[in-house]
Amino acid sequence: MLLYLLALVGLFYLMRWYRERQVVSNLQDKYVFITGCDSGFGNLLARQLDMRGLRVLAACVAEEGAEQLRKKTSGRLQTVILDVTQTESIAAAAQWVKERVGDRGLWGLVNNAGISLPTAPNEWLNKQDFMNILNVNLLGVIEVTLSLLPLVRKAQGRVVNVASIMGRLSLFGGGYCISKYGVEAFSDSLRRELSYFGVKVAIIEPGFFKTNVTSSEKFLQSIQKVWNQVSSEVKEIYGESFLEFYQKSSKQVEQSSNADVTLVTDCMEHALTACHPRTRYSAGWDAKLFYLPMSYMPTFLLDAFVYLRSSKPAKSL
Ligand SMILES: NC(=O)c1ccc[n+]([C@@H]2O[C@H](COP(=O)([O-])OP(=O)(O)OC[C@H]3O[C@@H](n4cnc5c(N)ncnc54)[C@H](OP(=O)(O)O)[C@@H]3O)[C@@H](O)[C@H]2O)c1
Repeated sequence: MLLYLLALVGLFYLMRWYRERQVVSNLQDKYVFITGCDSGFGNLLARQLDMRGLRVLAACVAEEGAEQLRKKTSGRLQTVILDVTQTESIAAAAQWVKERVGDRGLWGLVNNAGISLPTAPNEWLNKQDFMNILNVNLLGVIEVTLSLLPLVRKAQGRVVNVASIMGRLSLFGGGYCISKYGVEAFSDSLRRELSYFGVKVAIIEPGFFKTNVTSSEKFLQSIQKVWNQVSSEVKEIYGESFLEFYQKSSKQVEQSSNADVTLVTDCMEHALTACHPRTRYSAGWDAKLFYLPMSYMPTFLLDAFVYLRSSKPAKSL
């Protein structure tokens, strides 16, 4: 009985492996638009797809990032300046894309741009802190998608949204996890709506990787700024040791983050080039073996685990 079961599981994985290896044709004619190409995943993906022969339309926040990227890539790759929090900037970029793709439409849209700061206990933050992250990570994704959807539909292409394993598990306060839960929710409804038009939507859920988003230096500067601004009541309730715990944790996160960013960009590339892309990609062993299983645990167990690893506020009961 066990042998039959093992054979069935083996057969399932073999068939899945075969199915997932099939690649769409004429990649060299396909346009892919990627946001946040100045650094990190977006930058590497732009170079990776360019090497593969696709027509990459790379959006950067700053001209400096765009120039650096152009220097490292072929003449096929084109860049545009885009701030995903600005409606006019999105409209101008969408028009720029339209002029380039013409009747072919846009094969791939990768919503990758994102920020992670300020991250801190919720009570230390104000509404603007939440809005700053949500504007980039969630409303930016939504507005860019809505603006480019007609072009993606024309190509019967792909939307690839970069969420996070923190879109399945809310382990810290601030706007980041909220924004990634939002990206998951947006992508789920979008996937079903667009399936009627032959458009596929994939969600990328990376674990922790070494990029600006997990930089301890940036985190320490940000949390110190937040701490300096909290009321004396909050300072008294939480105490300096709570701040120190957060500071130490950020160093641990950076140290344990995976330096092999290709694990993420390979998932993105698969979502764009495979005939049968997955709905969700969890990139990194921490995501696959730790955070994802954790997200299925009963809430009381998950909470107990988080309490065990956290520091307590000075005035906790
Ligand atoms: N690294 C991780 O562990 C991890 C894990 C899960 C998910 N993610 C997600 O992966 C995505 C890429 O992040 P990354 O890790 O590659 O970090 P990154 O190197 O900081 O890349 C983020 C990119 O987004 C750009 N960006 C920031 N604000 C923007 C705006 N308003 N408009 C347009 N672009 C903007 C950044 O430009 P600047 O460089 O100029 O700021 C940068 O190019 C993000 O959505 C992030 O949340 C990362």
